[in-house]
Amino acid sequence: MPQDIAWENEYQNPQLITKEDRPQKDVLRFFKFLKKVGGIALENLTVLDLGSGTGRNANYLAELGNKVIGLEISPTAIDLAESRAKEMRIEVEYLLHDIGSVYPFGNETFDLVLDVTSSNSLNSKEREIYLSEVFRVLKKGGYFFVKGLCKEGDKNAKALIKINPGLEPDTYINEDMNLIERVFTQQDFINLYAKYFKIIKLIKKTNYTRFRGQSYKRNFWLAYMKKI
Ligand SMILES: C[S@@+](CC[C@H](N)C(=O)[O-])C[C@H]1O[C@@H](n2cnc3c(N)ncnc32)[C@H](O)[C@@H]1O
Repeated sequence: MPQDIAWENEYQNPQLITKEDRPQKDVLRFFKFLKKVGGIALENLTVLDLGSGTGRNANYLAELGNKVIGLEISPTAIDLAESRAKEMRIEVEYLLHDIGSVYPFGNETFDLVLDVTSSNSLNSKEREIYLSEVFRVLKKGGYFFVKGLCKEGDKNAKALIKINPGLEPDTYINEDMNLIERVFTQQDFINLYAKYFKIIKLIKKTNYTRFRGQSYKRNFWLAYMKKI
């Protein structure tokens, strides 16, 4: 599986991964949008959480009364997510599965798919599979939320690409995690996702990430998308 060792090491010896057990504000804002603009109540939905980590999004949605499945490549992350779900007395199905390979679900299974900073470490071949698989398993009219790394205005990303480039364009090797990540210009992001989905909103957002006592400014894309 691609880059699974880097992620497993990160969960065994966390440097970057947060211990938060509630969704980020960006994700909660998207849920509000779904309710207000999409007229979708967050209950009785079938939800797929890609790269579910320690379950902060999946467990929250299950608690609201949705059927949630999380795909994740780190067994340690799955253990953490499952034990949190147990404490919360909710049920979520966590599967050890690579989001850059064919998904074990039928066509049009999900009302909602989330990718909260999980697909940045896919290579371009895996990214094509991820895009066509999300399209396949999402119901017509279903929503897709992506939070991904943004290249524009991100000095850290530009420095990393220069100092430590990966093999593919706009990738760098994050040496602390031994992980290759991709950043996206707005045009690249649109070219990739608009082939499959209607992009309803594309928001550029700055967040600060703490790593080994230092704060790094990183830019992200928040994309609200729909299968039409
Ligand atoms: C930055 S973390 C975000 C976790 C979670 N989405 C959240 O919001 O807390 C990225 C997650 O994606 C997972 N991941 C990365 N590549 C993956 C892949 N190819 N297949 C499945 N999971 C993957 C990592 O193990 C990690 O848990």
